[in-house]
Amino acid sequence: FSNVDLLIVGAGFYGATIAERVANELQKNVLLIDRRSHIGGNAYSEFDSETGIEVHRYGAHLFHTPNETVWTYLNRFTGFTDYKHRVYSTYRDQVYAMPINLGTISQFFNRRLSPAEARTLIADQAAEMAGRNPANLEEKAISLIGRPLYEAFIRGYTAKQWQTDPRDLPEHIITRLPVRYTYDNRYFNDKYEGLPVDGYAAIFERMLNHPKINIALGVDFFSLKSSLPPGLPIVYTGPIDRYFDYSEGELGWRTIDFEKETVNTGDFQGMAVMNYADETIPFTRILEFRHFNPERSYQTEKTVIVREYSRSAQRKDEPYYPIDTRQDKDVFLRYRVRAEAEVNVHFGGRLGTYRYLDMHQAIGAALKAFESRVVPHFTEGRILG
Ligand code: FDA
Repeated sequence: FSNVDLLIVGAGFYGATIAERVANELQKNVLLIDRRSHIGGNAYSEFDSETGIEVHRYGAHLFHTPNETVWTYLNRFTGFTDYKHRVYSTYRDQVYAMPINLGTISQFFNRRLSPAEARTLIADQAAEMAGRNPANLEEKAISLIGRPLYEAFIRGYTAKQWQTDPRDLPEHIITRLPVRYTYDNRYFNDKYEGLPVDGYAAIFERMLNHPKINIALGVDFFSLKSSLPPGLPIVYTGPIDRYFDYSEGELGWRTIDFEKETVNTGDFQGMAVMNYADETIPFTRILEFRHFNPERSYQTEKTVIVREYSRSAQRKDEPYYPIDTRQDKDVFLRYRVRAEAEVNVHFGGRLGTYRYLDMHQAIGAALKAFESRVVPHFTEGRILG
């Protein structure tokens, strides 16, 4: 470690952005480690050896952002396709456009509705909860979109996501359920959207291709923690509870089991993401990766699909979505106090801050932390925190 100026734990977007900035802007030596065998964190994708189709290893990753700074920054390392995400949902053998929009509502109630008529209909159906405070997720959802749409599109899907009856889930999990009174079924509203022209892994290779960045893969931080020189500045993007050896308790996460299958057909479902709203179907959705890149001339004999099964994570599982119960919030606050007292360690990223972050948010937060924490550390000798 003699010539390492900064150790970064985790080669996802947060760690990679800091590494790139430190090497290029400050000309400092970075050691970037990840316990996985690849860079890219959860955004990593690879080209399937059998079909050549790009498969996102940790679930579908759609890039979108309203943030000009992040968009400009990332465009230095990749071009983007003009892919615009759309999602459909299967319910009782019918296929509906998501998020719930005028097309979904008209199809579901089997009549043509004007925007005003649809608004009135949904408001009438939601009036069931008028004057009452929702006591659980089900009641909250009904207060927002009425019972029929809730029972079709939210109940089964949510029960599968959480493996819990929505009546036993707290109401604060949902604050809003998007309903559009237009036929717009673009999934994201952000100004910028697209997929990296030559895949996610290429972005990270370009970001990290610098003589001042050394990368060590397959290295767990906790196997070398005790041998680190005292005071070595660290950017830590692993789970915060693990850093403190779970001493304040374990934070709750949901994980996903991905079941990958290569199917002997050129097109399995006609689009990239199909949700399954029926509770009787055990998976939540099926991804078909070829549809993320219609501009590529993939072979037409085979296609790659992935079924997603959601459940709560055990310690050995990949943590994906913070459950964030009130108890989790308390536990996290205790870790945050301890993190602030940890000299020369900066906690960042989705695992280090126990927050769901989209990719653009992880990059945006890393760019800010670089300016507000890392630069003052190296130029003014301030403690990294
Ligand atoms: P990330 O998890 O990517 O990186 C952390 C790294 O730290 C990992 O590589 C891990 O191995 C490493 N690490 C942890 N502990 C370690 C240790 N002890 N030693 C060494 N290394 C260690 N976003 C979006 O914008 N659009 C989308 O469509 C999606 N889709 C999506 C689907 C699913 C299923 C998930 C879970 C997430 C998304 N995301 C997303 C979010 C996206 O994955 C997220 O924004 C980034 O991964 C955040 O980057 P980080 O660097 O914070 O974490």
